[in-house]
Amino acid sequence: MSILKFLFTLFLITPILLQAKSNEDLSLLKVPMDEFIDSLMKKMTLEEKLGQLAQYAGGGSLGFNTRIDDDRKEMIRKGKVGSFLHVLGADFLGELQKIAVEESHLGIPLIFGLDVVHGLKTIFPVPLASACSFEPEAVKKTTRIAAVEAAASGIHWTFAPMVDIALDPRWGRIVEGAGEDPYLGAVMAKAQVEGYQGDGLSFENSILACPKHYVAYGAAQGGRDYNSAEVSKRTLGGVYLPPFLAAVKAGAGSLMNGFNDINGEPMASNRELLTSVLRGKWGFEGFVVSDWNSIAELINHGVAKDRVDAGKKALSAGIDMDMTSGIFGEEILKSVKKGEISQELVDKAVRRILETKYKLGLFDDPFKYCEVEAEKAEILKEEYIKFAKEIACKSIVLLKNENGVLPLKKDLEKIAVIGPLADDRRAPLGSWKAAGEEKDVVTVLEGIKNAVAKDTQVLYSRGCEVSGDDKSGFEEAVSVASEVDIVVLVLGESADMSGEARSRSEIGLPGVQKELAEIIVETGTNVVVVLMNGRPLATPYLSENVSAILETWLLGIQSGNAIADVLFGDYNPGGKLAVTIPRRVGQIPCFYYHKNTGRPASDDVRRHTARYIDLPITPLYPFGHGLSYTKFKYSGLKIKNKKVEANDSLEISFSLKNTGKVAGSEVVQLYVKDVVASVAPPVKKLVGFRRVYLGKGEEVRIGIKMPVNLLGFYNKEIKKVVEPGEVKIMIGSSSEGIRLDDSFIIEGEISEIDDSEIYYTAVKVNRD
Ligand code: BGC
Repeated sequence: MSILKFLFTLFLITPILLQAKSNEDLSLLKVPMDEFIDSLMKKMTLEEKLGQLAQYAGGGSLGFNTRIDDDRKEMIRKGKVGSFLHVLGADFLGELQKIAVEESHLGIPLIFGLDVVHGLKTIFPVPLASACSFEPEAVKKTTRIAAVEAAASGIHWTFAPMVDIALDPRWGRIVEGAGEDPYLGAVMAKAQVEGYQGDGLSFENSILACPKHYVAYGAAQGGRDYNSAEVSKRTLGGVYLPPFLAAVKAGAGSLMNGFNDINGEPMASNRELLTSVLRGKWGFEGFVVSDWNSIAELINHGVAKDRVDAGKKALSAGIDMDMTSGIFGEEILKSVKKGEISQELVDKAVRRILETKYKLGLFDDPFKYCEVEAEKAEILKEEYIKFAKEIACKSIVLLKNENGVLPLKKDLEKIAVIGPLADDRRAPLGSWKAAGEEKDVVTVLEGIKNAVAKDTQVLYSRGCEVSGDDKSGFEEAVSVASEVDIVVLVLGESADMSGEARSRSEIGLPGVQKELAEIIVETGTNVVVVLMNGRPLATPYLSENVSAILETWLLGIQSGNAIADVLFGDYNPGGKLAVTIPRRVGQIPCFYYHKNTGRPASDDVRRHTARYIDLPITPLYPFGHGLSYTKFKYSGLKIKNKKVEANDSLEISFSLKNTGKVAGSEVVQLYVKDVVASVAPPVKKLVGFRRVYLGKGEEVRIGIKMPVNLLGFYNKEIKKVVEPGEVKIMIGSSSEGIRLDDSFIIEGEISEIDDSEIYYTAVKVNRD
């Protein structure tokens, strides 16, 4: 402990030391958190308290800033800032921390936050992509590495994971989450929180996680970002809340509200959800940060008459820290002094923030993440880059592979790589690229060149731009395509077409890319399409006309090498869709856990059923879909306990065999359906999965232990219950590819279950 820190700590805890009864109490490090904070808060002026509730941007860049204006430094000196966001750099942040610790009255350390969403410098696949790996352990590792890099660069806090369930591909922020399914979303939320926070906040390299945007932000009407959500309590509890609950139960130390209103109540002032549910029911002990300026936006929502009123409403609802609006930091001061806003509310929020700083170990060592040497050593390590390729490979979904056109041979005489994204370095970094740099990205063209035999000629033509109507590159593209046996056509969206404020009203290929595909297909050469995109793209033309399609989303810095590994069979793809891909925008919302309705959709257009007269009822590709270069046989389903009660676990097993010619992986998926319930149940609900790797010819027995409570749903009284009766179980390779099914009976009475608990299914692979 440095002299400075010693003196600082001594200053804060002198009153405690004076009361100490034993030698043990005298150990500075053992001052319990509550006593430490009580003592600190006694010394704080009201202005300093409000300062702790204020978070400001470090500068104008929405990425990150590495310098700060003098007036901001002055604010630190005056104790008017609790946190900065959009800042980065061990040296720079060390300098700010020094001002806070050495030059402000009480020396309270700052907490620095940044959107480290899919990597800091080593950029991994966007979250929608990595969710398609169906491998929470791998996703956890990406967030662990991201935390290590961020911590080494001065960051204590990430605004992640984004755990919003998204059913609408028009919504640009679908790219930031784990897709449409609440169970998969909960599993991925837990994995990411555990990765960021590591072994505990006080440990080296742990950063504070911040699940966002609480809640139903993804239910924006029309897929238009920031729009209102109309969500019933049943759907809120069954669909939108579970990933947040999972994140909270995994120990997330902070949480961010959504910009949206739910049924007319903006989330920045929603006391029921921010306090009664989050703290009351779920026992959340961290602090809540408002999303950017969302406190001030309560005025636009029409629920606050002015900024002070907005501040009062947000603070009373349960928001503790104000991101950028400046209202908590200064503007509510008078009202608190006059007693119009309760001092007790302010104190509660201050305490939560100080507690977090304490738990992060910042009072013990405010400079713990400010070591310039560590920053250099920890960034973009060889092993991180290697893992970036591994998780990128795991995230790729093979949508179509006609006549086994993939994998390609490496010793082809010639191959053409065509398309506006084939040599693009920006798209794979996606939204929230943090400190990721284009120079570190391997493009598809480069990946293919790295992979093929020395004598193979790789021809390249851009063809067209991602958007716009310029077709002047078509001629060259056609001539290149006509010269070869195989074309790899790389199409999709640029990085700025998904993410925040990037909603689209059409979800097809932008610009003239479809036309480019058409003229390439017309050459008669075999076409393999590599899609790069931040949302499901409705591309029925491609599905009908090209030989193979790889959905690669936006895969991060190792994009090109991972795609080449899959194209040439060095990696056998096994990712599955975490989100349904519709045929057309008019099918939205298109998701697998819809209800049956009284008139379930039928293929027969003459009958009056829940379908369109101008479109098949099925999606282009269903949730859970994804092919492999090998085949899997499912057999021998056994249910150990066909009669269970709500608190039991159902035990089932089945065999899975790799019957193809190469090693590969399969994501086995368990779905359930209540046959009869008091409210209409979904046609299927995912309650368990596991990605299983099998050698050629290998067969394993898979054992599943599913808590029956996973069948819980919100009944007419909005109580979470498990109802007795028959339940169908379906085991499959996708939500539409059910391979084994059976049913079991839940006996007993209707049981109300604890909806502040989260249940997980264990899926074990038994290899003899
Ligand atoms: C976004 C958040 C983000 C914050 C800080 C907001 O506009 O909605 O997701 O964490 O900015 O960058």
